[in-house]
Amino acid sequence: MAIEDKIKTLLAKRELAKLGGGISRIESQHKKGKLTARERIDLLLDEGSFEEFDMFVTHHSHDFGLEDQLVLSDGVVTGYGTIDGRLVYIFSQDFTVFGGSLSEAYARKICKVMDQAMKVGAPVIGLNDSGGARIQEGVKSLAGYAEIFQRNINASGVIPQISAIFGPCAGGAVYSPALTDFIFMSERNSYMFVTGPKVVKTVTGEVVTVEELGGAHVHASKSGVSHFISESEEEGLLMIRKLLSYLPSNNLEEPPLTQCTDPIDRLEDALNHIIPADPNKPYDVKDVIFAVVDENEFLEVHKYYAKNIVTGFAKFNGMPVGIVANQPNYLAGVLDIDASRKAARFVRFCDAFNIPLVTMVDVPGFLPGTQQEYGGIILHGAKLMFAYGEATVPKVTVTLRKSYGGAHDVMSSKQLRGDINYAWPSAEIAVMGPKGAIEILQSRELGLIENEDEKKRFIAQKENEYKEKFANPYEAAKYGYIDDVIEPRNTRFRVIRALQALATKKDTNPPRKHCNIPL
Ligand code: HXC
Repeated sequence: MAIEDKIKTLLAKRELAKLGGGISRIESQHKKGKLTARERIDLLLDEGSFEEFDMFVTHHSHDFGLEDQLVLSDGVVTGYGTIDGRLVYIFSQDFTVFGGSLSEAYARKICKVMDQAMKVGAPVIGLNDSGGARIQEGVKSLAGYAEIFQRNINASGVIPQISAIFGPCAGGAVYSPALTDFIFMSERNSYMFVTGPKVVKTVTGEVVTVEELGGAHVHASKSGVSHFISESEEEGLLMIRKLLSYLPSNNLEEPPLTQCTDPIDRLEDALNHIIPADPNKPYDVKDVIFAVVDENEFLEVHKYYAKNIVTGFAKFNGMPVGIVANQPNYLAGVLDIDASRKAARFVRFCDAFNIPLVTMVDVPGFLPGTQQEYGGIILHGAKLMFAYGEATVPKVTVTLRKSYGGAHDVMSSKQLRGDINYAWPSAEIAVMGPKGAIEILQSRELGLIENEDEKKRFIAQKENEYKEKFANPYEAAKYGYIDDVIEPRNTRFRVIRALQALATKKDTNPPRKHCNIPL
């Protein structure tokens, strides 16, 4: 065959591979409001940057008539490209080919990009849209999944791993995204569950729809499985690009610095008045975050889950940071099981990838009650404490108002290796709030007072004495637990100066095989 004909054959094969499961299945994908695997890649990566691997791979199965159904690429499109000029590896499951189901050959393709991403130190992005294990391939498909799981585990904390769910993701297949750092789901057509509605009905009798069981809203707000939710696939893909702008390509690199035009000494007068005079009144801590970060830009992680704590990425003078802030606007900012788990995972991600932590504290304590105790708040709270104590990245803490009890210690306190701990003049740092403290400390005296008015007066007087002594930042500052009490409106400048001072920070943990975080 002449070379021209050989090239023609090549181009024809390429065109065939690009059609995946064929035009009618592509149309059916579009009818459902879904993009194809290749369209998703095109939208996600910089234009023209995609280099594909393994386009000519087909499965090796001879059972159930599969030997007559060979589709080039075998249901997953893999390769590398760039996002904002930075290298990323990608796999995109193609639902038009055997429902995107995973065969042995398909798993090998994914493993190949994961292996190469690890060698060169670049993030891996997986776009999921699959009916799970390819049923005809039996255990080979299960083995293929396990090969991917092992690579997810090895890559954890080495390169960022990002998953988007743009279709079904069911059965054991959910565990690969679950092992990655961030999961994106889109509001339509995106669902994840270990067992589907039919199995649920058979086993438990519960009748539930796909959306109720594992839709985007459920995982964004109830289970916390997904970190980001988008209205459409297009928006989700843009959000992935945004997320990557805060992350280094691997754990040996620093996060990417960008030029900042927002003045570092920008004063925010409103912050001097944001804390209500009544300590029991809430305010929105996100107003503080937006006010102090570069260009008021904050990418919130887990926006709809455990809203009593806020986590997300922002920049200070062009430096990416992870922000953790108690949210007085929701459950008074209390630390409960979900909030502790959410923040602990976020802190550990930031620490693994050299992203400094800025913590804003306004926490009345841990949530009391049997529900929390039976659910193991002791262990879950310990996770957050462990995460902060273990983190060696720069840690800047600003106590805005309450910082009580165990929660004070947990929230990046000086003794958990907080590097620079500031407090606003409105800070109250104590073992507990005045009311609880007086009830315990004065219980004998209170028992002796019979007149109710007299009792109230006595309580008010003792609470005032307690507030004078403890409900301020100076008692903690006296011991050096707080490095400085700062004017709220100057917070941006002080945090930036702190981060600049800490930019070359080096700290370590003792050598060991691995820690034993209370899982
Ligand atoms: C082989 C599959 C498949 C699978 C779908 N297809 N899932 N082929 N193995 N797992 C094929 C269908 O036969 C069909 O082929 C095409 O993909 C599209 O599927 P439809 O059913 O027509 O699509 P839809 O109605 O949109 O339903 C999508 C679906 C459904 C909900 C995902 O296909 C489904 O329930 N599939 C099975 C899901 C499942 O139970 N998987 C195993 C989970 S256990 P044609 O030729 O008609 O287009 C698992 C274990 C992993 O994954 C363990 C890891 C440790």
